[in-house]
Amino acid sequence: MTSDAVLPSARRTAVRRRAGPARRARRAAPSPGWRLSPWAVTTYLLGGELPDGSRIAPKYVGPRRLMEVAVATLATDRALLLLGVPGTAKTWVSEHLAAAVSGDSTLLVQGTAARRGGHPVRVELRAAARRGPVGEALVESPLMRAMRTGAVARIEELTRMPSDVQDSLITILSEKTLPVPELGTEVQAVKASP
Ligand SMILES: Nc1ncnc2c1ncn2[C@@H]1O[C@H](COP(=O)(O)OP(=O)(O)OP(=O)(O)O)[C@@H](O)[C@H]1O
Ligand SMILES: [Mg+2]
Repeated sequence: MTSDAVLPSARRTAVRRRAGPARRARRAAPSPGWRLSPWAVTTYLLGGELPDGSRIAPKYVGPRRLMEVAVATLATDRALLLLGVPGTAKTWVSEHLAAAVSGDSTLLVQGTAARRGGHPVRVELRAAARRGPVGEALVESPLMRAMRTGAVARIEELTRMPSDVQDSLITILSEKTLPVPELGTEVQAVKASP
């Protein structure tokens, strides 16, 4: 018999890979909403030296300006769109950004994923409720959890999403609200300030 716990994972999340450097960078960051200050997030991505002399290894190799704009976009409460040809570190950078800002890079919506009756952006309602949908029947999407907790959510393959899923994102991005019409309610995004 094998146990998942003892098997080495093929790929560790950015949080686990970089737990040490991130922890050291966090010491230099006075930030209640974000885990790291914008400066520390940029240093985590591009590498550098901390005031205590520890060295942070670079994750992204490329123009500093690009990472500064990316961090500034998130810090000013806007959505960040990474657009580029395949293999240019869009996923890589988004994972590290989420890990550095929220301490969690797993809140991911895969835009092209098969849906099996659920909705990747909104919620799933468990089929149990003969009385009609109730709060306990709600299964949060990763995006909904991110909105509720003020964490960074990542959306992959935005341009290949079905159009109705893209439509759901419009309300979320413009109103910062996720309506749940089945329950006559909505989820408001929590603001996480740097
Ligand atoms: N500028 C870079 N700095 C550091 N690593 C890089 C850079 N460009 C590419 N890589 C490496 O290439 C790998 C592939 O990049 P990634 O999967 O993030 O590309 P992508 O832009 O998301 O591609 P796709 O459009 O196919 O999804 C990353 O895991 C990373 O190790
Ligand atoms: Mg990618």
